Amino acid sequence: MSRPTDVADRVGIGVVGCGTISRTYLENLPRIPGFDVVACGDLDVARARAAADAAGVRHAGGPEDVIGRPDVDIVVNLTVPAAHAEVGAAALRAGHHVYGEKPLARSRAEADLLIAAAEAAGRRIGSAPDTFLGAGIQTALRLIRGGTIGRPVSAIACFQDPGPDRWHPAPEFLFAAGAGALLDMGPYYLTALTVLLGPVRRVAAMERDGPAERVVVSGPRAGHRFAVEVPTHTSAVLELASGAVATTVFSFDSPRKRHGFLEIGGTEATLRLPDPNRFDGPLRLCPAGTDEWRDVPTAGARLGRGLGVAELAEAIAANRPHRANAQLAAHVLDVAAAVAESGARHRFVDVESDPPAQEPLDPAWAPGEDGTAAG
Ligand SMILES: NC(=O)c1ccc[n+]([C@@H]2O[C@H](COP(=O)([O-])OP(=O)(O)OC[C@H]3O[C@@H](n4cnc5c(N)ncnc54)[C@H](O)[C@@H]3O)[C@@H](O)[C@H]2O)c1
Repeated sequence: MSRPTDVADRVGIGVVGCGTISRTYLENLPRIPGFDVVACGDLDVARARAAADAAGVRHAGGPEDVIGRPDVDIVVNLTVPAAHAEVGAAALRAGHHVYGEKPLARSRAEADLLIAAAEAAGRRIGSAPDTFLGAGIQTALRLIRGGTIGRPVSAIACFQDPGPDRWHPAPEFLFAAGAGALLDMGPYYLTALTVLLGPVRRVAAMERDGPAERVVVSGPRAGHRFAVEVPTHTSAVLELASGAVATTVFSFDSPRKRHGFLEIGGTEATLRLPDPNRFDGPLRLCPAGTDEWRDVPTAGARLGRGLGVAELAEAIAANRPHRANAQLAAHVLDVAAAVAESGARHRFVDVESDPPAQEPLDPAWAPGEDGTAAG
């Protein structure tokens, strides 16, 4: 099979998994200069066909039809977490690079199989979330590295919601292994904290089970009941490599919606970040000992989901490491495993993995906007 070995001027993209989030990717990916979305695949071929037709993508079929294509360089894996490792490993074995939605896999063991498949094939794995590549978190990273808040001391990260069974048409996977609030929403906050303050070193946590059964609220399957397989409320205290201590709450059992709260306190100032599930938003700074918040202008990329694929393609072409990488995503899985162990055993649990520190992106990096080239 002859196929490009390096991603360069033309980047062939194949999308596997054409459900809810694929619409956003299929809107954004074609905007990235050089990207050519050639095929959509899903176990439900009619769904792949509908997604392809809506987005003007030439080919549609099963996952094997995308993975078997020689004109695909990067497979974008938007399947449910239970299929992330299987679909990703098949794509890697076929010689493609892979960028997958979060979490990297359901467990560290599954993630390690994926990482081994990438090493054996000499191909790369990228993983969501890529929101940290956006203007909001990158501006915060530049401020923290520049010393604006002084020495980081504390962080508070909070996602509270009654649960995605209220809006997702097929929410079962969000209450199964590889999800729950901790692994569905936690990756946005845990990835941001890791990039901004260094890896998590130690965890103390408590988890709580919510209702054993939930009901699909919206869409054609409304009224369908399903079993909940994972804890749905997590409180965890995290010690970060910088020495800062983060207090976190991730919940699908909250009557109150509080999305996107992320605040970092330093010896000189407090920084309130935009929602880490978004690529930009209000960034505010308050000097120590005052209540005088001021808005900080953000600079950087705002395209949305798909930025991680753009950065991966640039990194492959430049032969340098990419940012939304498997080490970072596997670290989030390690934190989740430590949370579960700490909750079960009522003790502190160390986290060993140590993803490399990341340099802030150039504020001018904005693929897919104003004709700026992706690389
Ligand atoms: N829905 C969102 O708002 C959202 C936002 C950010 C990230 N995500 C992530 O994106 C991923 C997908 O979420 P979703 O909400 O789009 O789910 P979804 O259930 O709406 O869609 C998943 C699709 O994957 C297909 N699929 C499952 N197994 C497959 C396999 N082995 N091969 C090929 N296709 C397969 C399903 O048929 C379905 O069409 C998840 O990892 C989720 O965490 C979702």
